[in-house]
Amino acid sequence: MNAEHASDTPNLPDLPALPETSTEARKQHAEISDRIRSFNEAYYINDEPLVPDAEYDALFNRLIELETHYPTLKKNSPTQEVGAAPADGFAKVKHSRPMLSLGNAFSREDIVDFLSRIRRFLSLTAHSPVEVVGEPKIDGLSLSLRYENRQLVTAATRGDGSEGEDVTANVAHIGDIPQTLPDDAPDVVEIRGEVYMARSAFQKLNEVQAAANAKTFANPRNAAAGSLRQLDPTISAKRPLRFFAYSFGELSESLAQTQWDFLHKVEGWGFVTNPLTRLLNDADEIMAFYEDLGKQRPDLDYDIDGIVYKVNDFELQLRLGFVSRSPRWAIAHKFPAEQARTRINAIEVQVGRTGALTPVARLEPVTVGGVVVSNATLHNRDEIERLGVRVGDMVVIQRAGDVIPQVVEVILDERPDNTVDYAFPDHCPKCNSHAMREEGEAVTRCTGGLICPAQAVERLKHFVSRNAFDIDGMGAKNVEAFFDKGWVQSPADIFRLEDNHADEIRKLEGWGEKSATKLFDGINERRTIGLDRFIYALGIRQIGQATAKLLARHYTSIGQWRAAIVDANQADSDALRELINIDQIGPGVAKDLIEFMAESHNKDVLDDLESVLNIQDVEAPQVSDSPVNGKTVVFTGKLELFSRNEAKVKAESLGAKVAGSVSAKTDYLVAGPGAGSKLKKAEELGVTVLDEQGWLDLVATA
Ligand code: IVH
Repeated sequence: MNAEHASDTPNLPDLPALPETSTEARKQHAEISDRIRSFNEAYYINDEPLVPDAEYDALFNRLIELETHYPTLKKNSPTQEVGAAPADGFAKVKHSRPMLSLGNAFSREDIVDFLSRIRRFLSLTAHSPVEVVGEPKIDGLSLSLRYENRQLVTAATRGDGSEGEDVTANVAHIGDIPQTLPDDAPDVVEIRGEVYMARSAFQKLNEVQAAANAKTFANPRNAAAGSLRQLDPTISAKRPLRFFAYSFGELSESLAQTQWDFLHKVEGWGFVTNPLTRLLNDADEIMAFYEDLGKQRPDLDYDIDGIVYKVNDFELQLRLGFVSRSPRWAIAHKFPAEQARTRINAIEVQVGRTGALTPVARLEPVTVGGVVVSNATLHNRDEIERLGVRVGDMVVIQRAGDVIPQVVEVILDERPDNTVDYAFPDHCPKCNSHAMREEGEAVTRCTGGLICPAQAVERLKHFVSRNAFDIDGMGAKNVEAFFDKGWVQSPADIFRLEDNHADEIRKLEGWGEKSATKLFDGINERRTIGLDRFIYALGIRQIGQATAKLLARHYTSIGQWRAAIVDANQADSDALRELINIDQIGPGVAKDLIEFMAESHNKDVLDDLESVLNIQDVEAPQVSDSPVNGKTVVFTGKLELFSRNEAKVKAESLGAKVAGSVSAKTDYLVAGPGAGSKLKKAEELGVTVLDEQGWLDLVATA
C-alpha cells in the first residue's frame, strides 16, 4: 500500500484508545486486522482502494504499536504479510525470491536516520560516505519477469510477495519488455520492475471507454492494474502498458557489482530504466534531488509517488539484509499528494451495497498532476462538518495517486455570498428510509435493506462481478436495466430470466436473438459454482474473497456453513468459538456474518439461490494421482460429447487448470469439430491434441 505521510492528509480515523489489558489488545488487534485485510484485498485484488492512505497507515501503525507491547500478536498479523494472496482465475507463480516492500521516509530527519542506521550496521564512522542510487518511485504494479535460456518464460505480479499471478500472456505486447535476452545473458535471469500507464495514455483510454459505455478508471495505476490483470490477453494487448526495470530476483550469475551498473547492463539488453535516476552521496544531495524531482513531478507523463534510495554496492546490500518485510538497504521517500484548487458545483450522496451513504463533491473539472479530476469524495458526515464545506465553495483537492481524490480544505476567503451550510440527509436519497449512524461508526447507513433500490442494485452488481459469479454478458449496465424493469430484483431472478423474460429481452433495443442467447448461455454456465465464490458473491460486509475462501474451506458445504453460522448466533456456543477460531477471522467479521444470516430476508435469498444453483462443496481435493493434475488444458471447437462447463468442472476437480488460449505452457488441447486457430497454434507448438473421446478416455483412468 502506498502510504502518504499522516500530516499530509488531515482526515485520520478516530483510533480507539490504547488498550490496557492483553484481552482488550487482542480484541482490538483482531478488529483492526480484519479491516486491514479487507483494505488489502480491495487494493491489491480488486484494484479499488477503500480508504485514504493516511487512514490505512494510522491503522497499520496501531497494529505495530500493539505488537510492540504484546509480541505474540505478531503471529498471523497483516503486519507480517505483503499485499494480498493472488486472485482466482490466474495460475499462481511462486516467486523464487520473495517480492518485498519498502519502509517509508517523509522528512530530512527520516533520511538522516536511514543513513545513520546503515553506517551503524556496517560499523562505519559517522561521516563516511554511503553512495545510494535515487530512482523515481513509479506508481504502478510490480512485475517479475523470468528468463530461462534467454527466453521470457513467466511474468508474474507480486501477489502476496511469495506467490503472484501468472500474467505471461498479457505482457506479450508490452514493447518495453524484451521477449528474448542477448547471448551474453546468464541462463536464469529474473528482472523486476514496474508496469505503468502513461498519464496521456490513461486519459485517452478513459475517453475511449466512456464513448463505448465501458468502465472508466479512477487513475493511471488502476488502469494499469485493470489492464494487466485481464483474464483475456487480447484485451491487455490493446492497452498501452509500459515497464521500467529496477531490480532483480533469481540470477544464475551475478550481473554487476552495483545497482548503477546493473541498470546500465539491463538497459543494454533492451529494458527501459528510468532516465531521472541519479547517484547520490549524502543527505544534502538526497534532499536536493528530492526537491528537484518534486518540481518536475507535475510535468512527467507518469505518476510517481516518491523516490527510492538504494545502497549502490551489492556487497553492502548483502551485509545489510532485511528487517521483516523490507530491506535495510533501501527506503521510499514519499512525496506529498498532488493538489489543485477548484469549485464545488454540487454535493451528491451515493448509496453503496451495504447502505453506506457517501457524499461526493461534483467539481469544476481541474487537472491534478496531469489527470483531469471532476469528482472528489467527502467520505462522511463528520468530514463535511470538519471541512465546513458548502456547495459553491472554492476548495483544495488532492490526488494521492491510488485513492479517489479528496477535498482537503475550503478557501474561506473566496466563499461566494449566497452559500448555505450543507445539511447531511437523515433519509436515504434513494428509498427515503431513515438513515442512521451506529455508535462508534463514522458512516451513516440507509436502514432500508433490500427495499432500498440502490443497495439492491449495488448488491446485484457485486453478485455478477468478476470475482463473484462473473456472468458473461451481465455487466453493471444490464443489471441496472433489468432491475429497473423489475425483472431482476434478487440474485436468483438472474437464473430465471430465460424462463420469465426471454422474449422481452430479445425485443429490447440493441438486443436480438444472438445477444440474448449469449446472455442465457453465460448465465447457465454459472449455475454450478464453488462455495467460496458463492459466499463472496453475497456481498456480506467485511467478507472479501480471502475470507470467503477461508469459510468455504472450513465448512466445506453450503448446508454446513449456513447451519454453523445460525448456531454461532448463541453467545458462548461451540459454533461461535469455532468460527472465531478460524485463523484470520476476528470477532468483527464473525458479527457481520452472524447478523447477515439472522436476517429473515437474507435467509429467503439463500433458499431461493439454493433452488436454482448447484453450489459445489469445497474439499481439499485428493487429486495428486490424477493424470491431469497440474496440467493446463484448453477446450476448443464445438463440443458434442459434453458441455464446456461440464468439461471445465471435471478438469478442475482433477487438478487441471483450464485456460482460454493456447501457449507454450498448454499441456492438452481438446478439440471438438470445427476447431480453428487454437488447433493450428497447438500443432505449431507441439501441444498434445486430443479429440473429445480421447479426453474422456484420459480422465476415465482417474
Ligand atoms: S525496489 C525490496 N525500486 O514500490 C525492494 N520499488 O514499496 C523492492 N516501486 O513493490 C522494490 N518504483 O512496486 C523499487 N524504483 C523502484 C520502484 C519501486 C516503484 C514500487 C514497487 C514496490 C514498492 C515498494
